[in-house]
Amino acid sequence: MKYFDRRGFLKTAGAAAGVFYIAPTSWAQKSPGDTLNTLVVGFHGRGQSHIGGMLALKDRGVRITALCDVDQKVLSGGVDQLDKKGFKVTAYTDMRKAFENKDIDLVTIATPNHWHSLAAIWAIQAGKDVYVEKPVSHNVWEGRQLVNAARKHKKIVQTGTQSRSSRAGIGEAVKFVQSGQLGKILIVRGTCYKRRDTIGKTGAPQPIPAGIDFDLWCGPAPKDELLRAKLHYDWHWQWNYGNGDLGNQGIHQMDLARWFTGEMELSPRVWSVGGRLGYVDDGQTPNTQIVYHDYQKAPLIFEVRGLPAKPGIVEEVVKDGKKSKQKKESMDNFMGAQIGVIVHCEGGHVTVPSYSGATAYDKSGKEIKKWTGSVDHFANFLDAVRSRKHEDLHADILDGHLSSALCHTGNISYRLGMQKNPDAIKEQIKGDRDAAATFDRMVEHLKANHVDVTKNKLTIGPVLTMNPKTEKFIGNAAADKLLTRDYRKPFVVPAISA
Ligand SMILES: NC(=O)c1ccc[n+]([C@@H]2O[C@H](COP(=O)([O-])OP(=O)(O)OC[C@H]3O[C@@H](n4cnc5c(N)ncnc54)[C@H](O)[C@@H]3O)[C@@H](O)[C@H]2O)c1
Repeated sequence: MKYFDRRGFLKTAGAAAGVFYIAPTSWAQKSPGDTLNTLVVGFHGRGQSHIGGMLALKDRGVRITALCDVDQKVLSGGVDQLDKKGFKVTAYTDMRKAFENKDIDLVTIATPNHWHSLAAIWAIQAGKDVYVEKPVSHNVWEGRQLVNAARKHKKIVQTGTQSRSSRAGIGEAVKFVQSGQLGKILIVRGTCYKRRDTIGKTGAPQPIPAGIDFDLWCGPAPKDELLRAKLHYDWHWQWNYGNGDLGNQGIHQMDLARWFTGEMELSPRVWSVGGRLGYVDDGQTPNTQIVYHDYQKAPLIFEVRGLPAKPGIVEEVVKDGKKSKQKKESMDNFMGAQIGVIVHCEGGHVTVPSYSGATAYDKSGKEIKKWTGSVDHFANFLDAVRSRKHEDLHADILDGHLSSALCHTGNISYRLGMQKNPDAIKEQIKGDRDAAATFDRMVEHLKANHVDVTKNKLTIGPVLTMNPKTEKFIGNAAADKLLTRDYRKPFVVPAISA
């Protein structure tokens, strides 16, 4: 970004005035040949794909020039990895310091969920365009502040729901359904049948692994003791940091399900039922869950199953002359989808069984159409950064916010729920045939796993009514409280007006 020195000028002016400088990168990025310096924040797992994805855009002017992680081992590993490829990068532990670097144009974020919105907002305020992982928020309110920040500062913000880049595949199926060729949509169903085993029970606070800045890791969340064996990844199953599998794998399919409906607001009514069943561990989030979004046109029903179709059989396997034990398990599937979407229509259904394709069937179950194909989601981010039009994004932050929030409101109902016997739950939901049938299948699935739901009870949450315009619940202060959090200073998400 050397050819136009206005940024350098503003840098000095901003620093002198002592303000948190907003770099006006938007016009400078218009030139297709311009170099875009990239910072990747958090790369223990998914962030590795960010590094790979941005490196692959080298011929289009993208450079990784900085890395940030609060784990020194991860950080030095990333620096070495890029060094071997011939790239010298600046290493940061504190993302705020990295955002002060005016030469950085793009920021990609793959930290745990509780950091996503704040990190993205800070990056936007510092003048960067952002690629932020799903879910884009840890709660509904902060997701909306992120949308407002993106629009206010005219920044390009892509959500990491890469199946939105399956335009020739899933996108065409969406158009097909929305054209009415299969009749009216009756139900849109998302499935997240993905094995999630116990994370173990520690029973006591664990030492913080060496080399981790735990204060920065916790950020906006309370700085509680570490109550799980593994610091990385397993935070997904504790409410302070994660959103359960609904907000982990499930957000991808929730987003695709909402894409089919065309809904651009949160659902007016939501309730959820489920439990963390089959094992007792340090996790808090349900591993088995149904969320019912009562949209007026057609309900969106989401199912999470972390247990297998039935308990696995332990088999002895011999590999390279060595004997070991392996558990053989399989997952359920519903109408061809394990981790996917099923759109039930009057004249048939569409199944999305993958991140890149879909198939339509008529009422008799005969295949009538098939679509496949996707493009690179990072390249699409770059296209929009160059065009400066958020409309060019396949997963604009507004879509990211709405789909993430559908996971959050489902979880809010669950978290406010009461444990009940299956018969009492059945009685409560019997007014809705599809909900009752979905619940029956869930109970059968648990029985197949030898879970006695009369002893280890399921939790059913209240029906929450929402005003989609304000994104606040109606007449439920306890539910409203869970729309946001008490941010731990100084890691406070700012309120940003639309
Ligand atoms: N789009 C996808 O297909 C996809 C796939 C996997 C994960 N994800 C998302 O990516 C995110 C990361 O998942 P993961 O499995 O890599 O988690 P992880 O816990 O394995 O890694 C997170 C990394 O972020 C670092 N980190 C934490 N706080 C930080 C901070 N304040 N500043 C800088 N670094 C920080 C950690 O040290 C760690 O290295 C999650 O939000 C997840 O939902 C998306």
